[in-house]
Amino acid sequence: MALFSILRFPDPRLRKIAAPVAQIDASVRALVADMAETMYAAPGIGLAATQVDVHQQIVVIDISEERNQLRVFVNPRITRRDGLQTHEEGCLSVPDIYEKVERAAAVRVEYLDLGGKPQTLDADGLLAVCIQHEIDHLQGKVFVDHLSQLKQARIRDKFAKRARKNAAKN
Ligand code: NI
Repeated sequence: MALFSILRFPDPRLRKIAAPVAQIDASVRALVADMAETMYAAPGIGLAATQVDVHQQIVVIDISEERNQLRVFVNPRITRRDGLQTHEEGCLSVPDIYEKVERAAAVRVEYLDLGGKPQTLDADGLLAVCIQHEIDHLQGKVFVDHLSQLKQARIRDKFAKRARKNAAKN
């Protein structure tokens, strides 16, 4: 297994649209194992393949406190949304930024498991937030896109400053 490096906002590769996985084979399972390892090491509660520059529709999530309930979603699609909730979100691709985002309170997601079997999951609370956040990544979106123009501009400034600082250091 190996750790991936995680793309950082505003990297344009975070804007790529992920393609559906045609066949779940050993290479997909190896990719999922490395994605899970990368998520746990970060540490984070969710990771989309897009964030490690692999543009296939794969998401890993673990919101358990014990970090032992890995969920894998291949080709996930939200087929139902109910209600609204607001949750403070962060993202491994947007380090140190936490902002409130409004999303559906509950979602139904259809996906393939690692055996290639179609599954349906009804989720609410944090899991529903996480599923929506990660599926956004597969569509080339980051949570920052849900914020006001002013907040987005501030975050872009912050990251531009950080990049200049890092460039000056090297
Ligand atoms: Ni994210």
